[in-house]
Amino acid sequence: MTALVIIGAGGFARETAQAVRDAGDLKLLGHLDDNAALHGTEVDGVPVLGGCDLVHDLPDARVVICVGNPRDYAARARLVRRLDLPTDRYASVIHPTAAVSATSEVGPGSVLLAHCVLTAAVHVGAHVAVMPQVVLTHDDVVEDYATLASGVRLGGGVRLERGAYAGSGALVRESTTVGAWSLIGMGSAVLGDVPPGEVWVGSPARRLRAAPAPALDELVTRTVGGPLT
Ligand SMILES: CC(C)(COP(=O)(O)OP(=O)(O)OC[C@H]1O[C@@H](n2cnc3c(N)ncnc32)[C@H](O)[C@@H]1OP(=O)(O)O)[C@@H](O)C(=O)NCCC(=O)NCCS
Repeated sequence: MTALVIIGAGGFARETAQAVRDAGDLKLLGHLDDNAALHGTEVDGVPVLGGCDLVHDLPDARVVICVGNPRDYAARARLVRRLDLPTDRYASVIHPTAAVSATSEVGPGSVLLAHCVLTAAVHVGAHVAVMPQVVLTHDDVVEDYATLASGVRLGGGVRLERGAYAGSGALVRESTTVGAWSLIGMGSAVLGDVPPGEVWVGSPARRLRAAPAPALDELVTRTVGGPLT
């Protein structure tokens, strides 16, 4: 069975560990996390083996990066750049209850948690985090590093650009684009296009402020994931 390490040992990483266990097709070696206080401990019964750079000493293990939160949702992109691993080191983790249509595709390093639905011709890029009960409908495009918190629903033909963050329960009207590294607040209803690098909230969603993520200019323009084949 192929070995896997999960980068990160926080909430999303622990959820991914449970999905790996439920899927049963990868052997989870443990978590890697730069918080030295966790090294040698266990989270939910899974060992924290060491810091993130230990991944270079485990060349046979595949990898998934499970860090980030609404205050720092560029964290996965920074780690991908720092670790500089070949794309084929990255695994996709898909919970067995996720319904992924045959016409949809999921990129390397992406995670789909329980009860997600990808209805038809949905493209999910690399290093995308899809939390439980997210519904992606026909022709949606979710670009690399995007995050979809639990219960997000995208209408048909929606595009979430690179690194965009959709908060819990957010709704996005069909054929709408959410710009790169923009954040949609939890429970918001997006009715029209959101420019890159902004925080929008409410129903209907309105601009709250600029997005805070650091070094966005570089992350917006850099192509890391590349096209899916
Ligand atoms: C959008 C968000 C990032 C704003 O956080 P913040 O910058 O700390 O903003 P504040 O809480 O100070 O609120 C600023 C204003 O926006 C409003 N606001 C914040 N979030 C809102 C939301 N989701 N919907 C509607 N209004 C919202 C507040 O009521 C406040 O309005 P006011 O100035 O009129 O009082 C945050 O509320 C949010 O939704 N985060 C996503 C949470 C989530 O999905 N987590 C999942 C984790 S797995």
